[in-house]
Amino acid sequence: MSSLTSLKMLSVEEIDRILDDAERLYEVRHVGSRNGHVIANLFFEASTRTKCSFEMAQKQLGIDTLHFDVATSSVNKGEGLYDTAKTLESIGCDAFIIRHGETRYYEQLKGLTVPIINAGDGSGDHPTQSLLDLLTIRQEFGLFRGLKVVIVGDILHSRVAHSNIEVLERFGAEVYVSGPEEWIDEDIPREKRLTIDEAVEIADVVMLLRIQLERHDGEMLSNPDDYLQTYGLTMEREKRMKPHGIIMHPAPVNRGVEIDSSLVECERSRIFKQMNNGVAVRKAVLVRALHQKEAPVHVV
Ligand code: CP
Repeated sequence: MSSLTSLKMLSVEEIDRILDDAERLYEVRHVGSRNGHVIANLFFEASTRTKCSFEMAQKQLGIDTLHFDVATSSVNKGEGLYDTAKTLESIGCDAFIIRHGETRYYEQLKGLTVPIINAGDGSGDHPTQSLLDLLTIRQEFGLFRGLKVVIVGDILHSRVAHSNIEVLERFGAEVYVSGPEEWIDEDIPREKRLTIDEAVEIADVVMLLRIQLERHDGEMLSNPDDYLQTYGLTMEREKRMKPHGIIMHPAPVNRGVEIDSSLVECERSRIFKQMNNGVAVRKAVLVRALHQKEAPVHVV
């Protein structure tokens, strides 16, 4: 059984195989053929896309989901992450999908024997988001080598940025960042930093990030429109993008802050395509984790 806590644990060949599996599993439905696997989705931080697309992937594969609500669980009596997960493993869960605010929370869970799929750890990693981003870019361009990808915004606090910078560079993409200096990790070299005006003119992919205010120690954004004009994707900047350039954003989107609201569903935007790809990618990750035989019972 295979955990997935970070894409760093996989080679590019293994990642490519997951993307290929996602393409093959796109339309696969194992309707009514539950194979006895039960998965618990433990979300200690809010989520719409990751939680619901994992649930959709589980339904489409015929896997049972154990309902677990942090708010009404014994976490509120002080039970820790390890004891919670060990309890659910003891009663029969075959795998866990976990999102937690603590970076590298999964290091506490070494005593478990079932796979853990990381659905986001603090500012650390978000491997399934990176996989769906890679699939979206591969579908668009067919390759990664030489592509110019600019990741824009709150790099420092973003697990999506950290996962994507590492894996896109391994695949041969030229990755740049853009955003307020204080939100860019110190170890990112000067030559990889662009202004948003430089970024839009060279990028094949403009990947915008949500400002992670919940990780900013109480700091507030004083004027969202100032942010959009100084660092964000305005309608004027979109017009200066390369003809084939695409816009991505992991969402949720702060409309009118990272991006002009009218661009969220513009022709270049792949934001909803990313979400759609999320289900296929998560099916591939679940199949890998459970070592299911991929025998589509019913294909629609
Ligand atoms: N992109 C993403 O992780 O969205 P959610 O926080 O809604 O899961």
